[in-house]
Amino acid sequence: MKEKYNVGIIGATGMVGQRFATLLENHPWFHVTALAASPRSAGKTYEEAVGGRWLMDTPMPESMKNIIIDDATADIDKIVAKVDFVFCAVDMKKDEIKALEERYAKAECPVMSNNSAHRFTPDVPMIIPEVNPEHAEIIGAQRKRLGTKRGFISVKSNCSIQSYVPALSPLRKFGITEVLACTYQAISGAGKTFETWPEMVDNLIPFIGGEEEKSEQEPLKVWGHIDGAEIVKCEKPLITTQCLRVPVSNGHFAAAFVRFENKPSIEEIKKIWAEYKGEPQALNLPSAPRQFLNYFEEDNMPQAKLHRNLEGGMAISIGRLRPDTQYDYKFVCLSHNTLRGAAGGAVEMAELLAAKGYLD
Ligand SMILES: NC(=O)c1ccc[n+]([C@@H]2O[C@H](COP(=O)([O-])OP(=O)(O)OC[C@H]3O[C@@H](n4cnc5c(N)ncnc54)[C@H](OP(=O)(O)O)[C@@H]3O)[C@@H](O)[C@H]2O)c1
Repeated sequence: MKEKYNVGIIGATGMVGQRFATLLENHPWFHVTALAASPRSAGKTYEEAVGGRWLMDTPMPESMKNIIIDDATADIDKIVAKVDFVFCAVDMKKDEIKALEERYAKAECPVMSNNSAHRFTPDVPMIIPEVNPEHAEIIGAQRKRLGTKRGFISVKSNCSIQSYVPALSPLRKFGITEVLACTYQAISGAGKTFETWPEMVDNLIPFIGGEEEKSEQEPLKVWGHIDGAEIVKCEKPLITTQCLRVPVSNGHFAAAFVRFENKPSIEEIKKIWAEYKGEPQALNLPSAPRQFLNYFEEDNMPQAKLHRNLEGGMAISIGRLRPDTQYDYKFVCLSHNTLRGAAGGAVEMAELLAAKGYLD
């Protein structure tokens, strides 16, 4: 492992890109040396390119204000020469993103992606660091396919699943057969604020394009296993979801229902959640929450406003575990969608891959 890695942010001007910039400002391992976006922003300083679009609560990092934005596509060679790896969060067509990320990987530049384009490419790991760190082992097979020594793509999963999948993962040993999850998703998940999306004040929209498919399918890959040169999805549990957009700035909620083959007791589940530690905690990664799964006993907890920022927005909050009339149990859970669910999760994934030597 190197002492410090130079990194680029592709899509730096967007909402997730801005989150990367703030998270990486004082990062102990990663140092931002390149910022890239569309041709509309290329050639301008970061400050000029973002203009009035800065959406974070903290100011734009001073150290990045004067970095000249590169064109994410036209300047690949220039960007790759400046960095050890890139984070990528761009708003482009899926096939364009697939091609763009593969070009970086083939130029021997690892890609930590927030985009959905490669999530179901069989040899691209979709990593929640506390849940399936072992999927990094597929990177060797991917490098072989791409013909690279260093370059590869690793993706993080959709923000919608990052509360109920962490909560359910340590319970899989009881044989989870069926899951129903209704998600209540914040407007920042659409790259919006109440200023830019005033129609969401006092409103609820019962549709988020593509979200239910992602919420039902992605857990199966995260819980899948490596077989030769691919990650094979698990067959169980059956998952059904409904995803709603709600008038909350940040923090995706899920109301989850679960059925087991061998039903554990409520006390057993709470103990497992309280004691659960993943590889990020064992490795003491800079972005890892000390306590990943946090159970709240109060009936009206957790709450989006009170708990989304727990442990830098990287911890998962759970509550209201109780028996159900149709499933074995039901509970609610919450994660910060742009921290744990997007940029923070990708930074933690990069820390994990750095610690395991994949970024050297
Ligand atoms: N928001 C979330 O919570 C969230 C969560 C998980 C995943 N994601 C995913 O992350 C990605 C970015 O989301 P976002 O909310 O940050 O979007 P956004 O705010 O709309 O930002 C989009 C970024 O993409 C860049 N871009 C657009 N067209 C481009 C092109 N042709 N070439 C290069 N760069 C281009 C934009 O640059 P310009 O400023 O120059 O136009 C901007 O930097 C999407 O794939 C989204 O699905 C978002």
